[in-house]
Amino acid sequence: MFADLEGKAVVITGASTGLGQAMAVRFGKEKAKVVINYYKNEQEALDTKKMVEEAGGEAIIFQADVTKEEEVISLVQSSIKEFGRLDIMINNAGMENAVPSHELSLADWNKVMDTNLTGAFLGCREALKHFVENDIQGNIINMSSVHEMIPWPTFVHYAASKGGMKLMTETLALEYAPKKIRVNAIGPGAMNTPINAEKFSDPKQRADVESMIPMGYIGKPEEVAAAAVWLASSESSYVTGHTLFVDGGMTQYPAFMAGRG
Ligand code: NAI
Repeated sequence: MFADLEGKAVVITGASTGLGQAMAVRFGKEKAKVVINYYKNEQEALDTKKMVEEAGGEAIIFQADVTKEEEVISLVQSSIKEFGRLDIMINNAGMENAVPSHELSLADWNKVMDTNLTGAFLGCREALKHFVENDIQGNIINMSSVHEMIPWPTFVHYAASKGGMKLMTETLALEYAPKKIRVNAIGPGAMNTPINAEKFSDPKQRADVESMIPMGYIGKPEEVAAAAVWLASSESSYVTGHTLFVDGGMTQYPAFMAGRG
């Protein structure tokens, strides 16, 4: 438990499923106030709200498409209106689809970039505006991926969006460090969430992914949520501009295991 998170307000984008939902519930356990952003499925958001409340937190749900500037502005404002504060912004909403790069449409490229990178930028900008104008030592966490450093054929738009997120995170960390506003990222490996549901429902594909993870198992959303509360808490007070990989060792060149190479 991180005592300083009690009563803090956190906005989490894409919080009605997967990693976003696990983070919402964990912030609930920390007795934080959570804005659960959802995209389309209100019932999932309501279910998540109940889970946050049962865990011990307060929550509201807020529909917004992170690719729409006005909607991100309203989302961030909802925390200030409802809870009277905003302390932590988590830009988690994201999407991916596999397409050979020579066949990737501009529409598909733009959709992934708009959601994963531009959406996260808008969340950062609105939170930073609030932190700077009100002299708040706020905290931002961007949900990146191991693919901010590992190339990923047929996912060029996804890899580019997360690579962009890495330098966006570092740049903002540097720019706002003098104000003690911290900006970090989390780089999950392969996690058990809806984004991977189809792939992991096929035992062969699941085993193939597991073979690339030195720790040998697909990660649990709660393992990412644990990293998020640490990064949001004062226990990580001197950490900024960092991507914390939560990946069972996937970024440690598993092909070289057992002295190969
Ligand atoms: P997920 O599919 O459950 O979560 C993505 C969420 O983003 C969904 O709730 C979806 O509704 C929301 N979303 C999509 N477009 C949106 C939009 N325009 N506006 C608002 N919300 C929108 O999958 P997961 O795994 O929880 O993904 C969360 C983040 O974690 C993503 O950024 C993803 O790239 C990242 N990630 C996931 C990994 C995994 O293995 N599950 C690995 C590395 C990174």
